[in-house]
Amino acid sequence: RDKVIIDTDPGVDDVLAILLALASPELDVRALTITFGNTLAPSAYQNTLKLFACLSREFAANPSAETRYAGNLIPAEREGGKKLVLALGAEGPVGGERDLAAYFHGTDGLSNISQTHPHFTPPPLPTSGATHDYLDIEEKKPGYEVMLDILRSEEEGTVRIIALGPLSNVALAYRADPETFKRVREVVWMGGALDVPGNTSPTAEFNCFADPYAAQEVVEAVTSGAFTLTMCPLDITTPHTIHFDKLIHDVEAGGKTQEQPLKEFISAMLIRVRGLMKSFNLPDAMEMHDPMAVWYVIATVGTDPRVRVGGQKTGKSAGWPEGWEGVKRVFAVERKGELSRGMCVVDRRGTGEQHFIRTEG
Ligand code: BDR
Ligand code: CA
Repeated sequence: RDKVIIDTDPGVDDVLAILLALASPELDVRALTITFGNTLAPSAYQNTLKLFACLSREFAANPSAETRYAGNLIPAEREGGKKLVLALGAEGPVGGERDLAAYFHGTDGLSNISQTHPHFTPPPLPTSGATHDYLDIEEKKPGYEVMLDILRSEEEGTVRIIALGPLSNVALAYRADPETFKRVREVVWMGGALDVPGNTSPTAEFNCFADPYAAQEVVEAVTSGAFTLTMCPLDITTPHTIHFDKLIHDVEAGGKTQEQPLKEFISAMLIRVRGLMKSFNLPDAMEMHDPMAVWYVIATVGTDPRVRVGGQKTGKSAGWPEGWEGVKRVFAVERKGELSRGMCVVDRRGTGEQHFIRTEG
């Protein structure tokens, strides 16, 4: 099993990605660190608790469902026997203004289910000393410190960070203690748009747009050789969709709400998204942005990302699992541009130089 930290801003597709990770026996999920992004950080934190409250209800209704998640949720079945850590992280970008994605994810970050399905809201946790069946609620340390603690205590090169939101927590962790951060095996980030248009502006993908300063700090660190970054940009995530018919269940009409809490939760989240996709004249299918990053990690469990060098084709001999292909790209992130904030400015000159060079005379 690969140890992973999931840095996330739930977020509709973040919820799908977290569920995929928790249900994957290949992954040992050590922590969920929360960032602002799709919604405010405290809402993203609450959304995570809503998901866990729903899982508890699901296991009460369908005890066999628990076995699928046991290796990541049940403390006695987790490696090391400790609970999964949940920590609140960055409330805003490390540079520039805060922008959220309420137009897509709703003001609560979960398609406004806090209004349409208020029974999903778990009772508030006490402000201190909170206990939870599955979660070790970190109250003192911010998300980036939790990341560093895990990187410090685990063997070097064994922990992967799956970043599903703006890179603020990742950048803060690297800033605070670069030597410890370099112990990471790989950062896998759903973010950026390299050779396709953006989804937040004509030029930018949302996670890159939301904190372009953090993204550029991470890109600079990676360019200097500090650690490995594997991106799942829109180029690869947008084409990977699942038809809404496969994801949305008519549990309420069937009167089975009490029996299938998880299906109800997912369906309630996705109904609004389905309407949005229709209004944009897009296919009747959910784009699997964040789940793609988790899929990549599952597909590469136990492998060394450093052998998956750019330009090599698919296949095990190139270090990639069958069906996957990696391409090395040189780019920088635009931080301020009037029209291009968060754009990945790809250097297609093939010189391998990261930065633009101005020559005199
Ligand atoms: C990314 O932005 C967010 O809205 C999604 O959760 C995903 O992480 C897609 O651009
Ligand atoms: Ca996300």
